[in-house]
Amino acid sequence: MKTLKKIFAISLLLANMGVKAESLSKPVDIVVHRSPSCTCCGKWLEHLKQNNFKVTDVVTNDVQAIKNKYGITPELSSCHTAIVDGYVIEGHVPVEDINKLLKIKPKVIGLAVPGMVTGSPGMEMGPKKDPYKVISFDHDNQVKVFNNYESAQSITPP
Ligand code: CU
Ligand code: CU
Repeated sequence: MKTLKKIFAISLLLANMGVKAESLSKPVDIVVHRSPSCTCCGKWLEHLKQNNFKVTDVVTNDVQAIKNKYGITPELSSCHTAIVDGYVIEGHVPVEDINKLLKIKPKVIGLAVPGMVTGSPGMEMGPKKDPYKVISFDHDNQVKVFNNYESAQSITPP
């Protein structure tokens, strides 16, 4: 009887550990399309790699063709275009927002940080941080604010 209880307790423990280990360590696959001449793209890839993403780096001289394919309008456009779990990620979107997107799975095409904002991940220039918004966009050309980085203070580590 005692042994049975013990086995039960141990198997529960192992099951718990299994779940935790998976959610903590399983890398997230992401494909990034970028131009070979863009250095900030490379820095954003580092930001992904340091945060548990497994990056497939696709270097292309025609990033515009990729943007056309995935419905990135000029208003949303930035340097690189990434695909993760069926979602499109345009520009220097922080991993925190990508993780949130993958968790809540809204019915959108993806997220964008239009342009090249100083202080966004991969665009660090000393202490200077410009305010920016992470935008979600969907198939009806609807854009919404997904996250708002108004100041340096709002950028907190996960
Ligand atoms: Cu860039
Ligand atoms: Cu880039």
